[in-house]
Amino acid sequence: MFMIKPGFTLMCLLLLLNHAAMASYTLVYTGNLNGELEPCGCTLEGDLGGIKRQVTMIDQLRRQNPDLLFVSSGGLLIAEMPSDRIRSDYILRGMKFLNYDVIGVQARDLAFGAHFLKRYKLPFILSNAYGKPTFAYQKTLHRQSQSFTFFQWSVLPPQTLLKDPHAETMSAQKRLAKKLATAKNTGTITVVTTNLRLAAAKKILPLKNIDILIIPSRQDKFAKPVQIKNTLLLQPGARGMRLGLLQFEVRKHAQRVRIHHWQQRIISLPKTIPDSPRTKTWYTAYNAALKTDYEKQVALRKQREQGKSPYAGAEKCRACHAPEYQKWQQTRHPHAYEDLESVGKNFDPNCVACHSVGFNRPGGFLNAGLTPHLSGVQCESCHGPAQAHVDSDGKTPTGNHQWKKKQICAQCHVGIHSPSFNLETYWPKIAHGQKTGK
Ligand code: HEC
Ligand code: HEC
Ligand code: HEC
Ligand code: HEC
Repeated sequence: MFMIKPGFTLMCLLLLLNHAAMASYTLVYTGNLNGELEPCGCTLEGDLGGIKRQVTMIDQLRRQNPDLLFVSSGGLLIAEMPSDRIRSDYILRGMKFLNYDVIGVQARDLAFGAHFLKRYKLPFILSNAYGKPTFAYQKTLHRQSQSFTFFQWSVLPPQTLLKDPHAETMSAQKRLAKKLATAKNTGTITVVTTNLRLAAAKKILPLKNIDILIIPSRQDKFAKPVQIKNTLLLQPGARGMRLGLLQFEVRKHAQRVRIHHWQQRIISLPKTIPDSPRTKTWYTAYNAALKTDYEKQVALRKQREQGKSPYAGAEKCRACHAPEYQKWQQTRHPHAYEDLESVGKNFDPNCVACHSVGFNRPGGFLNAGLTPHLSGVQCESCHGPAQAHVDSDGKTPTGNHQWKKKQICAQCHVGIHSPSFNLETYWPKIAHGQKTGK
């Protein structure tokens, strides 16, 4: 045994060293949350997941392995009902407890605008947005002596985000390919999350420089990892019902590191996983916010059914204020709601408020079907509710009769919504009333 050639001993030693240097890493990953803050619990089979259980589980996994990497491919939010804004707000707050290392931004996460996401200071990345970067392009994490770089490719709605969808996509594609190549050549493990399906991902993304590709699974369940040449394909299930855990080793092949041994575990989150006590206050506040909103909606509906609204609508003003009405019709204000419709945002409460009359106020605009007489920017957007004024033949002053011009405009012409607003130049375009002449 001690007689073997020195060359062979050296090789054994090298192998041994190599083996000793081979560290093991853990990646915990999730797919689209799709607004699932918690399961409805209507059926036992469906009672899986939810942020409260996820927090319990990730806390436990981190206690076992503080070095684990935790990534979400995004798609967190939901924007189908007015109350979804509340749910989305609490989902983003809930992300703080989970303390993800990286979260991808998907189109659905932009439903309430990019600024809505920015407020929460979460580790968002987006590697194919155009224009001024709102989110980090990529994120690199170090574990032991290995670096990991994460990228996100999202299918974004062309009409709202891209000026020239084809050209923008091509240049974003080239840029990502370059970044991935650089990362690979400097010894990084690259992880790309995306909401593309596999066929599209293969076309758009340079798999040869991607170690781990995370795409959505076709259903709520996680799929088994698949190796495509050097890329390990992971397919997390949606709606936060389970967590995927990948354990792997990393090995060097001709200057490039590659995923070596890997093993996947799927952790489901049934009712038996207790809610994390850390989330208790957050969850109580969430339910309280929903209740307040619900009661507000009921009050609005009740008022509408009783036909009582403090708003009259511009048509009612016409009879006594013909010149003002005429002037108003010549401005952009009456078309504010149509313009919202033309960009498909007339169901975003975040937009409707400034493009209609009295939205979110009792008796105000609800939608184009129920309250057509209150769409667009009208007399009462500026003058305040005036039904009582109409009923009294003008004797009761309008709701905002004591407001200064500046204050009236500032309800809407603020910040990014009207960067070039200047009362001196804007008022003349809509001027009416006796004091200023017609
Ligand atoms: C705080 C009030 C406010 C909110 C909220 C708001 N807007 Fe506006 N919007 C304005 C004002 C004011 C203008 C006119 C700006 C100007 O010309 O200076 C405007 C103009 C527009 C126009 C017309 C642009 C044009 O070229 O004529 C569109 C379209 C529009 N907004 C869409 C949206 C969408 C979509 C949202 C929601 C994501 C939104 N707005 C939210 C106040 C608002
Ligand atoms: C974009 C905001 C805005 C809209 C829309 C608007 N107004 Fe005005 N209106 C004003 C402001 C501001 C004044 C105050 C002018 C001043 O102080 O010189 C004014 C003045 C008036 C006056 C004269 C008040 C006075 O004491 O001289 C009347 C009447 C009036 N508006 C009626 C209307 C009617 C009717 C409509 C709808 C057909 C309408 N306004 C739409 C902002 C608006
Ligand atoms: C039946 C006639 C009548 C109708 C309808 C009417 N007004 Fe008037 N309005 C008047 C009279 C009269 C005055 C003057 C009151 C005064 O100077 O004491 C007036 C004054 C105003 C003023 C300036 C004083 C104030 O209260 O702010 C505004 C603004 C105004 N109206 C807006 C409206 C709006 C908006 C509507 C529609 C929702 C409307 N009016 C409908 C008769 C009417
Ligand atoms: C309830 C929200 C709201 C209020 C209050 C409001 N505006 Fe506007 N304004 C808008 C919106 C929305 C548009 C864009 C309409 C469109 O083009 O779709 C707009 C457009 C305009 C435009 C046309 C801009 C252009 O380039 O043609 C002018 C001018 C203007 N507003 C002046 C004013 C002035 C002056 C005041 C205050 C007296 C005022 N607005 C109050 C929402 C508002």
